[in-house]
Amino acid sequence: MQITTIDHPVIRVRLSQVRSAETSVTDFRHAINDIAKLMCYRVCEDLELEETPLKTPIQSAVGHRFARPVVFVPILRAGLGMLQGFTDILTEASVGTIGLYRDEETKQPRSYHNNMPEHLAESEVILIDPMLATGGSAIEAVNQLREKGAARIRFACLIAAPEGVQAFNEAHPGVRVYTAALDECLNDKAYIVPGLGDAGDRYFGT
Ligand code: PRP
Ligand code: URA
Repeated sequence: MQITTIDHPVIRVRLSQVRSAETSVTDFRHAINDIAKLMCYRVCEDLELEETPLKTPIQSAVGHRFARPVVFVPILRAGLGMLQGFTDILTEASVGTIGLYRDEETKQPRSYHNNMPEHLAESEVILIDPMLATGGSAIEAVNQLREKGAARIRFACLIAAPEGVQAFNEAHPGVRVYTAALDECLNDKAYIVPGLGDAGDRYFGT
């Protein structure tokens, strides 16, 4: 199974704040931002580099740059909450956006937006969404990325349900999932248990 659980004391503390129903919108946003920054280090730790010559004020030296452009793709809406943390770390990354929402009855993703940078095909693409529940939204997002030519994709979420991990892995076995927590299960409304509730509503205060 292609899943990496990113464990760090700061992430555990911030994730507890994110989970708590008592947490204000402001603190929720700050905590997600902190987690996203810490996750970004791990999600990017094996990005390929190439050597590049440079001159320091003292002499010539060999530096490094990314071998391929990096594109972050948050799934709207809730994925936007993690974007700032990722772009704070990798300031040179481009951003594509995919708009999906879950139909309340069927739980199937409905697509309403897709905007990608032109260099998607040669890029390292990092798909971002806090919740991997049934997996439907992330699976559809990767389908759309592949249709637009993306070849190197990884997926970062805050909380994953085992059902979603399994479905995602079956649909896209070549895409590694990074999560801050692997929770127990889904409830009868396909919400993650214990989870954090509705990520979009909590982040946007709706
Ligand atoms: C949430 C979340 C994921 C999706 C996960 O979005 O941000 O995109 O649900 O559920 P799934 O794995 O069962 O597809 P939501 O549909 O609530 O839309 P929003 O981000 O606009 O609030
Ligand atoms: N979407 C959410 O925002 N939360 C869940 O628990 C499941 C899907």
